[in-house]
Amino acid sequence: MTVRQLQDEIVRLKKQKDACILAHSYMTEDICEVADFTGDSYALAVKAKNTPNRNVIMCGVRFMAETVKMLSPEKRVYLANPAAGCPMAEQMDRALIEQVKAQYPGYAVVAYINTTAELKAIADVCVTSSSAVRICRAIPQRDILFIPDINLGTYVKEQVPEKNFKLLSGGCPTHAKISESQAVAARKAHPGALFLVHPECRPEVVKHADYVGSTTGIMDFAAQSDAEEFIIGTESSIVQHLQFAHPEKRFYALSEDLVCNNMRATTLPDVYNCLTGRGGTEMIMSDELIRSAVGCIEKMMEYGG
Ligand code: 13P
Ligand code: SF4
Repeated sequence: MTVRQLQDEIVRLKKQKDACILAHSYMTEDICEVADFTGDSYALAVKAKNTPNRNVIMCGVRFMAETVKMLSPEKRVYLANPAAGCPMAEQMDRALIEQVKAQYPGYAVVAYINTTAELKAIADVCVTSSSAVRICRAIPQRDILFIPDINLGTYVKEQVPEKNFKLLSGGCPTHAKISESQAVAARKAHPGALFLVHPECRPEVVKHADYVGSTTGIMDFAAQSDAEEFIIGTESSIVQHLQFAHPEKRFYALSEDLVCNNMRATTLPDVYNCLTGRGGTEMIMSDELIRSAVGCIEKMMEYGG
């Protein structure tokens, strides 16, 4: 089958199977084209909750499918590629965080949405990369234990100096591997370009940015800006999506290394196989886990996330 034929078949099958397809912004263009919604993990989970479809296929990584299931427990939620995990979400377990919590009594545990449901279950409030600063300012506690990303945590700490942060040394291996010298080299190679950076990058990279924000924030900034050239400091799929969306502008990858192999694991044939029942995995979570993990997302909504 050609890509086009496979896409047509997927579109036919998703209607027949009453399925909604969600594609995280880091998915490739061929997957985004057959998706009902594209965006960040929280926005996708909210979209899925509000669709009438009984089945949802998440094209992204495991914690994203968990978040979808948590917001729509009555729906059957599938992860298109069962092997697609997120090293950051999975690098800390409940036992470790409970140990740290015991050392810092009274601290609010603020969990980046890129965490497993078992960690969300012991967090006080969840944040996305776009809501983290706002939520940390808004919560009543002054002392904050921010998990798991030290780079996002450092960025938030700088923006919210009135609070006391304890950070752990977790992070996204894809964003964290970019060095300051790569940032300086990219700026030198494209002196007329604006530099847009995700806060999962190291602080010494972030300090060179003209704009710091989530993936959606970076895409919106590039769309609205009058500038013609941009260096994109996040996963390289975004360079391609932006180039398709704005052919009149120029987008450069901060580094060719900015590729998340976990996000690349999901392919268009995976989406097809998931719809035909030959692939994918259904997210099965106990009612108790869902109930305890969804609490920190509800808190985020309460604080304006
Ligand atoms: P967002 O900017 O969409 O929150 O996501 C970044 C990321 O690394 C997703 O895995
Ligand atoms: Fe996880 Fe980083 Fe990949 Fe996002 S880009 S899925 S945080 S490893």
